[in-house]
Amino acid sequence: MPKGQNSLRGTLLLWLLVPTVVLLPLNAFWTYFGGITVANTAYDRSLLVSARTIAERIQLDEKKLSLELPYAALDMSDNDLGGDFYFRVTGLKREHVAGFDDFPSLPPNVPLSKAYPALVHFYDAEYRGRPVRVAALHQPVSGDAITGVALIQVAETLESRSALTHRLLIETLVQQGLLLALSVLVILFAVGRGLRPLERVRVDLERRDVQDLTPLDEAAVPSETRAFVAALNRYVVRLSKMVELRKSFIANAAHQLRTPIAVLKTQIGVAKREKDPGALGDVLAAIDDTTQSAARLANQLLSLTRAEHGLDTGASVASIDLLAMARHVGLEAVPRAMESEVDIGLDETSDKPVWIYGDAVLLQELLINLVDNAIKYAGPGSRVTIRALLEPPGRAVLEVEDNGPGIPPHEREHVCKRFYRVAGQTVAGSGLGLAIVQEIVSRHNGRLELLDASTGKGLRVRVELPVSPHV
Ligand SMILES: Nc1ncnc2c1ncn2[C@@H]1O[C@H](COP(=O)(O)OP(=O)(O)OP(=O)(O)O)[C@@H](O)[C@H]1O
Ligand SMILES: [Mg+2]
Repeated sequence: MPKGQNSLRGTLLLWLLVPTVVLLPLNAFWTYFGGITVANTAYDRSLLVSARTIAERIQLDEKKLSLELPYAALDMSDNDLGGDFYFRVTGLKREHVAGFDDFPSLPPNVPLSKAYPALVHFYDAEYRGRPVRVAALHQPVSGDAITGVALIQVAETLESRSALTHRLLIETLVQQGLLLALSVLVILFAVGRGLRPLERVRVDLERRDVQDLTPLDEAAVPSETRAFVAALNRYVVRLSKMVELRKSFIANAAHQLRTPIAVLKTQIGVAKREKDPGALGDVLAAIDDTTQSAARLANQLLSLTRAEHGLDTGASVASIDLLAMARHVGLEAVPRAMESEVDIGLDETSDKPVWIYGDAVLLQELLINLVDNAIKYAGPGSRVTIRALLEPPGRAVLEVEDNGPGIPPHEREHVCKRFYRVAGQTVAGSGLGLAIVQEIVSRHNGRLELLDASTGKGLRVRVELPVSPHV
């Protein structure tokens, strides 16, 4: 994800500031040109008024037009035109009647203005080297002898118009600039304020003690972020449950490790005092047993951690034939089984390989634990069967079955918990074997079931794993 998209503040500022910064100058542009159009219309109207004033003073004496124009009439201050003012009156036969005789004649193709009920043209021109705005008014004249149309042209230089345009431009720029600056400030403030509740959540979380897993106050945040905080709280609840489990696991593990060490200490004390070589041999054998069970416990704790966190697994993840693995583990267990007078065997109904993709070390650990339990709990004279087969559709099944006492159904949901053992157990163990099995099965997205043995008496542990997509 690009860096900018990570920041809510950045995204909000981008989406608010960019349109504002673009739209306000656009608005300034419209305001300015709108203002110029209005001002030009007003100036043109003033020009027309001047032309009409002149037109009203045209007199027709016999066949000749003349203009009686006092200077007062030429005072255009009423119209507030400013600048220089020129005019010319042209007679019915295009002869010069009054005004400036070098005034340029009305160019062809200048359209009639539709804005006024008069025959008037407005156009831009140049006169005496300066740009001017001209109104050309056609004035019907009629007398006894002649009838026709006189042309009155009035022009003004553009100083006042450009002064006004300039003022308009400056005012618009100042106004819109202020508006822009204010808008930016308001947006910055609003975004900061809008995000403040999230900031409070952050500060609250950062100030917390590591141990503090109390939920955040959902009511203190805006409705939009409530769902987010609620999800965070649910996560914290899950986290605290996990922390609790961890704590009790560590306490249990420490307790379990302390016991054999305490026993060892006592046994060593006894050994030190023992003079009789025969009795000393017995004590040493007992010390050996205790050491072995302590070492096994330490190994089990390591296995559990490995299964949980996938440590050490990278190298051993591969395609594995469960049947070959079952054969291998079964063979390895034969000496122990014989010692316990247990008949161990592999179910040979199918000799097809059962390929799955998984962690060889962990899966072997799983099978060893199941076989170990079966030999340990089924007891002398019993029979243990290991089975690995493919079950349609796409399931690999690994089973260890014995015809021992089995596990009562109400105990089955508990025996996979860490350190849990069925009460009244006479055989040594720490209650971690099935917890390790469960963890390894979960890591492989499989399923673990404790079932009745197919013969009726005994336990059948069934592990279902997804078959390898690679084979
Ligand atoms: N095949 C079985 N037959 C009867 N009971 C069993 C069998 N397998 C497990 N159990 C019962 O389930 C309990 C939990 O087994 P688990 O393997 O988790 O621990 P454990 O064998 O007691 O100790 P550990 O395996 O850590 O040495 C055992 O104490 C035992 O009571
Ligand atoms: Mg066990």
